[in-house]
Formats: sequence, C-alpha cells, structure tokens
Amino acid sequence: MTHRMKHVIIGASGQVGGYLFKELATRHESVVGTSWTHTAPGLRSLNMEDEKAVIQLLDGEHPHVVWIPAALPDVDRCEREPDVSYRLNVQAPGRVAELAAQRGAKVVFFSTDYVFDGENGPYSEGDEVHPLQVYGRHKAEIENFLLSSVPRSVIIRPAWIYSQDANPRNFVYRVVQQLKQGAVVKAVTDQWNTPTPSDGLGKMAWQAVVDDFVGILHVVGPERLSRYELTVRIARKFGFSAEQVEPVTTEAFHLEAQRPLNGGLITAYRDYRMEPGRDFSPVF
Ligand SMILES: NC(=O)c1ccc[n+]([C@@H]2O[C@H](COP(=O)([O-])OP(=O)(O)OC[C@H]3O[C@@H](n4cnc5c(N)ncnc54)[C@H](OP(=O)(O)O)[C@@H]3O)[C@@H](O)[C@H]2O)c1
Repeated sequence: MTHRMKHVIIGASGQVGGYLFKELATRHESVVGTSWTHTAPGLRSLNMEDEKAVIQLLDGEHPHVVWIPAALPDVDRCEREPDVSYRLNVQAPGRVAELAAQRGAKVVFFSTDYVFDGENGPYSEGDEVHPLQVYGRHKAEIENFLLSSVPRSVIIRPAWIYSQDANPRNFVYRVVQQLKQGAVVKAVTDQWNTPTPSDGLGKMAWQAVVDDFVGILHVVGPERLSRYELTVRIARKFGFSAEQVEPVTTEAFHLEAQRPLNGGLITAYRDYRMEPGRDFSPVF
C-alpha cells in the first residue's frame, strides 16, 4: 500500500482517535475525523448508529482506510447498560466496518486487553479469549465478526494508553494533577498490564496499514507493571514522593465490572514491538 491515502477516523474526538488524527496529520495524509457528543473544530459530526449518515460520509470521501476507535469503553457503564454497550461496541461499529469494506476500504478497529480474563497474563495474539465482563464479551464478539466478515481488517489491541498530553483523559496527567494538589493517589497493586504510549500506538497502527497487516495485533509498550508501580514511577519522574501513592487492592473499589488482574499483552510479531527512543518517547 502506498503512502498518501485518504483516511476517515470514526471517533476522532476520543483519546485514541485524537492520537490517530495527530499521527496521520504529521505524515501529511488526508484525514477526515468525526465526533459525536464532544464536538471540536475541524471534526465532522457523525452518529455512527445513523447508517444513512455513515453511507453519506463514506460515499462522499471515498477513504482508503477507515479507522474505528469509536466505542463505549466505560467498562462499568457497559455492565450496567449491556444493551447500550451492544449497540455501541458491536452493532454500530460492525455495520460501519461492513459498509467501509464493501466500498473497498481497509478497516482498522480498536479492541482491548479486556478480552482476556487476567488469570495468567501476559497474552499474545494467538491466546484464546475469555472475557470477565460485558465490555470484554462485546469486544470479543465484534472481533469475531470482523475476522469472519470484514476482509483485510486489522484489529489492534492496546492496553492502558498514556501520553505526554495535558488532557484529563490521560492517566499520567491526571495523576500529576492530583499529586500537585497534595492529594494521596490510590493505586491498585493487583492489576498488572503493559501500558501503551500513545506515540508508539500511532506509529505501529500506521505501520500496520502500510504493511497491509490483516488480523489481530497487540500494540503495547515493552514493560509490564502493576498500576501501583506505574503510579509510583510517574510520581518520582515528576518530582513527587512515592509516599503520596497509596497501595490498595481492586476489591477496595467495589467496581461493577470485574477487571483482569494478572493481565498484559505480548506482541508475537517482532516488527511491531516497541522500543523506547526509537518508537516512543518515554514519559516515566
Ligand atoms: N484508552 C485506553 O487506555 C484503551 C485501552 C485499551 C483499548 N482501548 C480501546 O480503544 C478504543 C478507543 O478508546 P478511547 O480511550 O479513545 O475512548 P474514548 O476517549 O471514550 O473515545 C470514544 C470515541 O467514540 C466516539 N463515539 C461514541 N459513541 C459514538 C456514536 N454513537 N457515534 C459516533 N462516535 C461515537 C466518541 O465520540 P464523542 O466523544 O464525540 O461522543 C469518541 O470519539 C476503544 O475501543 C477501547 O476499547 C482503549
């Protein structure tokens, strides 16, 4: 696949969509991004559940690539409102993907490490999924749909995305803001994962398109850490004491949806393994 393509990002107002938009714009690709409830200048308004509007967008833009980070990633809300989760995590993105593929576009979909149960992580692309909650079950369902019905699609699974951005959606920023206010930050010692730097995610996702990668791809940072360890690293890096981070367990939060604990992802495909400095700028 040659460079200089036309791209549509469904959900460019979100965290991942915003990073993708930045990555493609830096590469001087032609990008149209959409937003729904968080309107922003430069983004086109689109409800992905409105099939007519989706068709109009695709037929107007003729994209080579349709990126779908749009989702309902609020895990506890999905547990409370499984019907809404099904609509936004399975039906709507599935239909968008189908419509895009019918028009010859490559589909890049974003899934999650929550398709695994965290009994025995980290997991690689070939490992069998076993989700613990509604959100993970719905993501696993759409993955299967894409693999069987949307040819040439790529399914990218990141985990615990972070960045250098001053944006409340960014975990690092949130922690630093709390520490600056003198607050004690509670962080769980029993959830383990492989945090994903946003710049590395953008780079590897782009590479997957250039390579015409097909199937499931784990895109994560090189280290596996507990949330507590990650938070302590952030505190130290930004000049705060580790004492300001309080170790707690997941149980203490009484969350509605179960979390994978011993989780994290491994990338079986060597070319997509991130190296600090080369593929991303370390934040902590
Ligand atoms: N963030 C992470 O750490 C992480 C980790 C693993 C996997 N992922 C995966 O990455 C994907 C994106 O996550 P994120 O963190 O970027 O989520 P996010 O910040 O909540 O963004 C979700 C996006 O979906 C859009 N959207 C929701 N409902 C829509 C609708 N009906 N029509 C059109 N657009 C709609 C939102 O638009 P508006 O906001 O404008 O309504 C927003 O742009 C998800 O599939 C998630 O599973 C994320």
